[in-house]
This record gives sequence, structure tokens and C-alpha cells, in this order.
Amino acid sequence: MAEDLVILKDTSKEQQYISLIPQIAALINGEPDQTANLANIAAALKEQFNWFWVGFYLVKSDELVLGPFQGPVACTRIQKGRGVCGTSWQRAETVIVPDVDEFPGHIACASASRSEIVLPVFNGSEVIGVLDVDSEHLAHFDEVDAVYLRKILNLISA
Ligand code: SME
Repeated sequence: MAEDLVILKDTSKEQQYISLIPQIAALINGEPDQTANLANIAAALKEQFNWFWVGFYLVKSDELVLGPFQGPVACTRIQKGRGVCGTSWQRAETVIVPDVDEFPGHIACASASRSEIVLPVFNGSEVIGVLDVDSEHLAHFDEVDAVYLRKILNLISA
């Protein structure tokens, strides 16, 4: 099966998400293995947006453990309420950090990371992990990312 993605350049961020989402839906459609699907989602997002780091942390025994990701090596475990990821998990809500130096308790897995967005991954009302995206640019993420990344995560919660 051909798995090449159509990657849009020189269009708005919104158009890039709109092009990517059905492709991700097709990639994970009918595949029950969560690791495989999270790995392909991280890879597809990296291919389209070329972010510094994009990947998942999964809730295991009351902590977040590093899951499928694309980018430099990262911290393996994060406690609830710690850093941006642990905060998103604890609050069960999306956290956008325009400047990581301004976020108390930010966990610097890589010094190049300057801004970040983290969304909880739900199974029903339970948070089972988070999607973390890091950029080497300040203020790289906004509500457009929050809306469309949520749509992508809804594909795996469905
Ligand atoms: N910066 C995150 C930790 C994960 S890495 O960025 C991949 C945080 O503060 O939770």
C-alpha cells in the first residue's frame, strides 16, 4: 500500500491541516494498534510541519512515559502536574506556551525548544496521554493548532 503523504507548502497553516487530516484518517482507518497509529500521526505531523519535536507521552502507572515521537531524544518520564505535559494532563486541557522560559516548571528536554503546545488525549473523559509539540521559534502555536490538533486526536478517540 502506498503511504506517501501529499505535503502542502506555501499555503496557510489551516489549509495544511485541512489537507493532512483526511490523510491521517486514511492511515489509521481500520488499524486497531494504538502504537502504530500514534507513530504514524507523529510522523505525518513532522512531515507536514517540520516541527522541532512532536510526539506522545502516555499515562502509565500514574506518570507520563515517552511514546511514539519524531525529533531529538527526549525526557522519558514526567510526573502529573510537572512541566507543560504534566500540567495538560492534570488540568485535562490544552496548554499553549508562547515562551517556555515564562512557564514555571517547564521541563527543558532540549534547549532549542522555545514554544510549545500540549493537548490531552482522551479515552472518554479519561486522559490517557498527551500530544506534545515543540518549536524552536517563539509563539509558534495558537488556537488554529489547538483546534486542528484536537480534530486529529479525535480520530484516535473515535
Ligand atoms: N517540555 C515538556 C517536556 C517534554 S519535551 O519538550 C519533549 C514539558 O515541559 O512538559
